[in-house]
Amino acid sequence: MSTPALPPPREPGRYRIGLVCLGNICRSPMADVVLRTRVDEAGLAGSVAVDSCGTGGWHVGDPMDRRAAATLSAAGYDPVHRAQQFDPSWLDDHDLLLAMDGANLADVGGRSERVRLFRDLDPVGTGGEVPDPYYGGDSGFEEVLSMVERTCAALVAALPAALSPSSEHERSDREQA
Ligand code: 4NP
Repeated sequence: MSTPALPPPREPGRYRIGLVCLGNICRSPMADVVLRTRVDEAGLAGSVAVDSCGTGGWHVGDPMDRRAAATLSAAGYDPVHRAQQFDPSWLDDHDLLLAMDGANLADVGGRSERVRLFRDLDPVGTGGEVPDPYYGGDSGFEEVLSMVERTCAALVAALPAALSPSSEHERSDREQA
């Protein structure tokens, strides 16, 4: 699997990733829990911070949607979450903001080096959206989980190079020599 290039950290050795959807009770909380778990498993919890928010404020303070929580629990994750609303300070506080769909991306001010669609990093169907499962059935949450799991795996694989770009360049220079 080729690893996507990520923007450099604002502070050396520390990487902050924010995940953005509309309500912050379904998609971005699922991605938040899965990404945190993968970061932890990769031994990167001390240098990578993950959080999530919604562009809308209706659910601030709520736990995640019970269907999202049930889907995560069934897959072995711990679905702990409290919903937060996006604020423009997130654009300055994070190294990378990943929006679940095009409307979320537009609502945070559009694409930039540090603001992209989450599925730009999806090794399958790169550049698509994570469909909103809120008004649908349980299968929508399963679909979100599989997109989130494979995209988080690609993202975590790319983090070591983003965290220490010079050592990665040196290594690839050595490999090419
Ligand atoms: P999410 O799904 O953006 O994936 O959290 C939604 C949750 C709630 C609402 C819309 C989408 N809502 O309108 O309350």
